[in-house]
Amino acid sequence: MKVTVVGAGAVGASCAEYIAIKDFAAEVVLLDIKEGYAEGKAMDLMQTASLNGFDTKITGSTNDYSKTANSDIAVITSGIPRKPGMTREELIGINAGIVKTVATGILEHSPNATIIVVSNPMDTMTYLVHKTTGLPKNKIIGMGGALDSARFKYRLAEALGAPISDVDGMVIGGHSDTGMVPLIAHATRNSLKVSEFLSEEKMQWVVEETKVGGATLTKLLGTSAWYAPGAAVSGLVQAIACDQKKMFPCSTLLEGEYDLDDICIGVPVILGKNGIEKIVEIELTDAEKAKMQESAAGVKKTNGLLDV
Ligand code: 2OP
Repeated sequence: MKVTVVGAGAVGASCAEYIAIKDFAAEVVLLDIKEGYAEGKAMDLMQTASLNGFDTKITGSTNDYSKTANSDIAVITSGIPRKPGMTREELIGINAGIVKTVATGILEHSPNATIIVVSNPMDTMTYLVHKTTGLPKNKIIGMGGALDSARFKYRLAEALGAPISDVDGMVIGGHSDTGMVPLIAHATRNSLKVSEFLSEEKMQWVVEETKVGGATLTKLLGTSAWYAPGAAVSGLVQAIACDQKKMFPCSTLLEGEYDLDDICIGVPVILGKNGIEKIVEIELTDAEKAKMQESAAGVKKTNGLLDV
């Protein structure tokens, strides 16, 4: 199993690190346009191998896509991250060109790769990869929901005063401050609905803090987050590489599911060796359905800024 991670910045390097630590891939190639940067990150990470106990080989390359040849999975993290006060949508002008170039470079050397898109605005970048590569829809996956759900669980655990392992929950919809739809009515603590334990007000607090999870970190860090995004990507990569058939909310091309068409947006999917093996349609409450439609309208508006 060979995995390429394009972009050796904080998110890309964290992806490579978590993939390596989980030790399921033979090889991870980090690629970046900055001279020597990916090579340096790869060497630094390889020097953790004996300490962290992994055998995954990590190599770096300065923009030489031939080094990524025959990758099974490619993760696109390249592009500029947002600064405090910026929305993910504001990054579209620069990131669309970068994502298009990177997807082309990857597929030239790995025509059978499954692509995971992380660059923002993620749902629109995932749609762009669909429009520009002609890859089958199961092989294009947008990473947002896995991260947003992890942030949802973090806030749920905080509100409940419970360990994270006690809680479960999922966020669907667009990966944006206004577009996320945390499914609070479905969230549980040990199979019991969280509404058994939390007031309406507290549940609303969880939902709102989840939606601005990325923005809160951007304000604190001065740039966008990397540990949780990297860990979320590694979960998706592992599910595909190990054919786990695990369910994650991911951005995928919808063709009628959830009453939506010609859009990439977060919904539950099953991930296995064929990428997105199934789109799972769950019963949403009327309020959730309305929020999902509103979220989709926002994503479509951003898609409208693309030159495709
Ligand atoms: C985030 O939410 C990078 O979009 C990513 O942190």
